[in-house]
Amino acid sequence: MKPYEQLLLENKAWAKEKIGEDPGFFKRLVDIQTPKFLWIGCSDSRVPPNEITQTQPGEIFIHRNVANLVLHTDLNLLSVLQYAVEVLKIEHIIVCGHYGCGGVKAAMTQKSYGLINKWIRNIKDVYRYHQVEIDSLDSENDRLNKLIEFNVQEQVYNLAKTSIIQRSWKKSNAPHLHGWVYDLSDGVIQPLLDITPNSPLDHPIYEYDNLGDDI
Ligand code: CO
Repeated sequence: MKPYEQLLLENKAWAKEKIGEDPGFFKRLVDIQTPKFLWIGCSDSRVPPNEITQTQPGEIFIHRNVANLVLHTDLNLLSVLQYAVEVLKIEHIIVCGHYGCGGVKAAMTQKSYGLINKWIRNIKDVYRYHQVEIDSLDSENDRLNKLIEFNVQEQVYNLAKTSIIQRSWKKSNAPHLHGWVYDLSDGVIQPLLDITPNSPLDHPIYEYDNLGDDI
């Protein structure tokens, strides 16, 4: 059997098991999804959102990319965000990074990796903002993990800087924003920061005075 055929076989077994446990499971999910959470995480295969939070299909709306970045020019992320906030009425958005993140590690070096240089350039900026605190740490691993934490924080701030979030905060006092970091070595998630709706931004220059329907 080819490796990918194993996936299809496992899928059949999974679907059968689900129906065995709960005959209405798939029927309920066909027409409607009502997730309360949007998860923005790293693409890393070791950080599967549903598995590490013991959630079921239908519970978390998910966007993943290298190093869990929230960039204001990323049409993919913005489309997911707009749909999650304006249509699904998501209550909580979680940016979840993870210690040992390869994307962040690559950004901490001067090595060129080709196209992905352009993506992780954003993490180099985060390093520059916090260089003094990061460089004060003794071990390379501690410096990496500190940048991973600052990167999560920066991405949560980036969410609050979007007009999608600012408009939703004004209209419906939601969603809450959260920054978490997952530890590959023990499987535990550490919460780093929470931002409640309508909190002041990290700098007022990002607060829009006129929130139309544009993104
Ligand atoms: Co990663």
